[in-house]
Amino acid sequence: MLKGFRAEIVSVPHDPRVAGDEAVLHEADGLLVVEDGVIVARGPYEQVIEGFPGLEVEDHRGRLMVPGFVDTHIHYPQTERIAAYGLQLLGWLDEHIFPAERAFADIAHAREVSGFFLDELLRHGTTSALVFATVHETSVDALFEAAVERNMRIASGKVLMDLGPDGLRDTPETARAESEALIARWHGKGRLTYAVTPRFALTSSDAQLGVAGDVLAAHPGTLMHTHISENVDEIAAVLGRFPDARDYLDVYDSFGLVGDRSIFAHGIHLSDRECCRLKESGAGVALCPTSNLFLGSGLFDLARLDGHGVKIGLGTDVGAGTSFSMLSTMGEAYKVCQLRGAPLDPFRALWLATAAGAAMLGMGDKVGSLTPGQEADFLLLDAGATPLSARRCADLPVGQRLFAMQILGDDRFIARTYVAGVLAHDRDAGKVAA
Ligand code: GUN
Ligand code: ZN
Repeated sequence: MLKGFRAEIVSVPHDPRVAGDEAVLHEADGLLVVEDGVIVARGPYEQVIEGFPGLEVEDHRGRLMVPGFVDTHIHYPQTERIAAYGLQLLGWLDEHIFPAERAFADIAHAREVSGFFLDELLRHGTTSALVFATVHETSVDALFEAAVERNMRIASGKVLMDLGPDGLRDTPETARAESEALIARWHGKGRLTYAVTPRFALTSSDAQLGVAGDVLAAHPGTLMHTHISENVDEIAAVLGRFPDARDYLDVYDSFGLVGDRSIFAHGIHLSDRECCRLKESGAGVALCPTSNLFLGSGLFDLARLDGHGVKIGLGTDVGAGTSFSMLSTMGEAYKVCQLRGAPLDPFRALWLATAAGAAMLGMGDKVGSLTPGQEADFLLLDAGATPLSARRCADLPVGQRLFAMQILGDDRFIARTYVAGVLAHDRDAGKVAA
């Protein structure tokens, strides 16, 4: 099945900070040609169409096609606890989050929330994500089943937390057995990736962190997903429990959890040594600006991590994050960077939300760049989504238009989302997927 999609197209396969203008691919009137879910050609319409006489073409001129967004850190069981008032990390977990996660012992509940969650991602233009589930094995089954139905590129894993609160504790033995079983059932099936997921250093025993390291080492291609250095009280508690560790990252390192398949959420208060070690190991950090502002955790220092050459992606971190929208997450990242004295270029923000995130999740050859050979996950942005945006964006060049949508944007700006070349969300027609 061969099909064309005509629109203005922009993608950012490389870091503009390093590659400059070469990083950005832009066609004012472009054509993306897709065969069986894979991009086979892309370029200026008049040029590319010559190679495909008689091609069936969907005409979306007036819309801006970008790669599907890649959310590098989000919690699906926290969907219903977004916007919970008044606390910082540790109190917020106890008061709002752990009670919500207990409900996922019920697979019917996990299935219902999984479907809602993935549809919400699609509605916001997110086609790939690294997702926290809960400690319950079946919470991962429910999410992966729903991801298969939607053909989405999702990475997830059972949360390891043998020192967690009542009703949310596993053991080192069940952690190993259930992670292994889930890997056997799901890892590498279709578009799914397994992520070994110790919640954070405080909720796992030394024995369980050791299990996490073993399972990660035993399964090539799996990811490691956890939290680091988010909140000052959290960091003090970690250093109190591990007095021999050089720092927070060193705790994970001592259990074999720091490498090029590791993704650490937050990393707001990292030392220079930790940044150097992250760079050396090839591990990545998920920048989660709406969450870091909401929980009062701190201001991520992107320029500093860039200086160390650390891999970065962008995450919403719902439910501490305040929106599923990667557009608005880019906008909040811009504001945090402003407070740190270095504004975030809109093309670089798009790179972080697409190709950089994909590379961090080991999917950089599959999605994120809209280049031939990649899977056709993309969306159509509508700069005229609101009267104000229509007015602001009229006649703006693409970079400024992108920026305006990052600052003003939300789900209203996502006209359509396509997964592997198939329409998965159509704003104007209501729900389409699954
Ligand atoms: N650290 C440990 N668990 C969590 C969580 O659920 N959310 C956030 N933001 N940080 C965490
Ligand atoms: Zn998180």
